[in-house]
Amino acid sequence: MLLREFLPGDQEAFCSLQQDQDVGQFMDWLPRTREQAEAAFLDALEQQLMPIRRRFFYAVEVDSIVAGSVGFTLLSGDSADCGWFFRKNFWGKGIGTMAVALLVEDAFAKGISKLKASARSQNIGSIRVAEKCGFQRLGEKNGRVFFEAINSPKM
Ligand SMILES: CC(C)(COP(=O)(O)OP(=O)(O)OC[C@H]1O[C@@H](n2cnc3c(N)ncnc32)[C@H](O)[C@@H]1OP(=O)(O)O)[C@@H](O)C(=O)NCCC(=O)NCCS
Repeated sequence: MLLREFLPGDQEAFCSLQQDQDVGQFMDWLPRTREQAEAAFLDALEQQLMPIRRRFFYAVEVDSIVAGSVGFTLLSGDSADCGWFFRKNFWGKGIGTMAVALLVEDAFAKGISKLKASARSQNIGSIRVAEKCGFQRLGEKNGRVFFEAINSPKM
């Protein structure tokens, strides 16, 4: 598996992921229309060229196929908010855990010291992924569980 920047040829995989009702069942902002998904894809490409980049959304490639997307958006200071989603036929194979672990590594390597995440309380799979990748549960509010992962450099 590898995390890599999105390429123009990934548009179909990206849009089908964002248009899938099952993928979006626990997210308020998904599924997207084709038009919205294409705009988000364009943004993912454009962000790569920004002198000051805010969003780092990557393709998760498994056996040369885009299996999903993971990424983070910079907040104030050195913290960021992250998210992850995968195509249905890749669920339940440990791919989420592996990809999010790589994402945390990438964010910390880029100088992020606090990575935030949240998931609907019913999204057991996503909550497990966060826990398995070292996120600490901060609490639960309005049907969402909130997490953060802190980069604490080893002495
Ligand atoms: C939720 C999601 C990210 C999980 O990814 P995944 O690759 O299937 O997860 P993994 O295979 O790495 O599994 C991680 C753990 O979660 C558990 N798990 C995964 N899906 C589960 C589900 N639907 N119900 C209960 N447990 C689940 C696994 O059993 C594993 O736990 P274990 O190691 O204790 O046995 C994936 O299903 C997905 O992309 N869903 C749609 C988008 C989404 O909801 N994104 C998160 C928004 S916050």
